[in-house]
Amino acid sequence: MAAPDFFAFYSEYFGERWNALLPALRGEAVYETIQYPEKEPYYLDEASAFAARALGVEPGMDVLDMCAAPGGKTLILAQALQGKGSLQSNDRSPDRRQRLSHVLENTLPEEYRKIVQVSGYDGVRFGMYRKETFDRILLDAPCSSERHVMESEKYLAEWSQKRISHIAITQGSLLASAVDALKPGGQMIYSTCALSKMENDDVVRKILKKRKGKVRVLEMKPDIPGTDQTEFGLQMLPDRCAGRGPIFCAKLEKLENEN
Ligand SMILES: C[S@@+](CC[C@H](N)C(=O)[O-])C[C@H]1O[C@@H](n2cnc3c(N)ncnc32)[C@H](O)[C@@H]1O
Repeated sequence: MAAPDFFAFYSEYFGERWNALLPALRGEAVYETIQYPEKEPYYLDEASAFAARALGVEPGMDVLDMCAAPGGKTLILAQALQGKGSLQSNDRSPDRRQRLSHVLENTLPEEYRKIVQVSGYDGVRFGMYRKETFDRILLDAPCSSERHVMESEKYLAEWSQKRISHIAITQGSLLASAVDALKPGGQMIYSTCALSKMENDDVVRKILKKRKGKVRVLEMKPDIPGTDQTEFGLQMLPDRCAGRGPIFCAKLEKLENEN
């Protein structure tokens, strides 16, 4: 009887709002089409595209997409770099990495693709092995992905509240690694498609404590109507954002080293 647990948990978490959010999560998503001449189109949720653009990537920067597969947000980052600088699109899963390589090959023009390197490291290692290396990092972290869980009896049966705490620990380790891999003055986006604050604001709060004096939260300007302002970032949920989301994103800056 795990499935009723899922619905009971989120119904209690969102209160009245769940009555509108539940059907919106089951409804159609709203996609942006990324397409170059003679290439295959890629369809990306508009809220996901917003999170990737919010990173503020500019040509010439060294950029890491720590959990990049299947690659929708990496396409936005590559577009912003315009073939100048570097983009490391990393994902630990071999199957998903194969899909990422396929997306890069089939969607991006060669002049944008030539600076993209695909790798398969555990994201937790970047903080130690690539310390203070990147100007910009996107950490689109593995999360509960409730919109997908709801589509499958198998995933619903596997869901538990305990799992949220477990995932949040992984997210915290990845976030600490990302902060350590940022150059002083560098910026990052922490994003998830999780619904609850345990995987969103709470993870950010913990890093502000764990890396006290090394990182600060930057303000973000929402451009999708209906976006909710949260304690540290923005959340786009499909009931208020006309089908877009779910996406949470927060922007962090690594502070310059004190001499
Ligand atoms: C939310 S998905 C990323 C979606 C992607 N950013 C996009 O826009 O298409 C999270 C990804 O994290 C990867 N992942 C999970 N744990 C990881 C780890 N420890 N290191 C690197 N990647 C990891 C998963 O394989 C999964 O592809």
